[in-house]
Amino acid sequence: MLRVAVCVSGGGTNLQAIIDAVQNGVITNTEIVGVFSNNPNAYALERAKSAGIQAVSCSPKEYATRDEFNKAFLNQMDAWNPDLIVLAGFLVIIPPALIKKYENKIINIHPSLIPSFCGTGFYGLKVHEEALKRGVKVTGATVHFVDEGTDTGRIINQKAVYIEEGDTPEVLQRRVMEQAEWVILPKAINDIANHII
Ligand code: GRF
Repeated sequence: MLRVAVCVSGGGTNLQAIIDAVQNGVITNTEIVGVFSNNPNAYALERAKSAGIQAVSCSPKEYATRDEFNKAFLNQMDAWNPDLIVLAGFLVIIPPALIKKYENKIINIHPSLIPSFCGTGFYGLKVHEEALKRGVKVTGATVHFVDEGTDTGRIINQKAVYIEEGDTPEVLQRRVMEQAEWVILPKAINDIANHII
């Protein structure tokens, strides 16, 4: 049974896709052992609680230094003893100590077809704003392993989404989430849980 810890910062629709996939058998051989957020107001925490999953929020603002927050974050991950850590819209720089300790055991969902529209500063709506500004006809989402860089780890899977006439960044973001993120993130977890990758 793959023990999965999920890290969130916002609405938690990717977390919900994972929860639903475990409940309906799209993801097998997996247990979500905890949900962690840096944002105590993240709706994702409500989603976890509704699903009976332990939800912990721990804001950097509660600590005198970033190093102390990082220690608390790492301690919480260790307490859950996860086989896999999933970053699902988690807007926190991952401490190098965590990346080292959980090497090749942390994955992230990014709302573009890496290597396009990724790296420092490319997150949330900005990714879609840039794609529209550049005039690309196809975008999508990527699941990748997390390494010391930003969106630079080994790519696990991707799914393309067509941009449509008149798309706004918000409309495009929603389509990418619905058609790509909520599909490839559960698939990546299931593939890892069942040793397909
Ligand atoms: C998603 O668009 C994801 O690609 C990005 O942050 C957003 C998270 O949304 N990393 P949610 O919190 O899963 O709804």
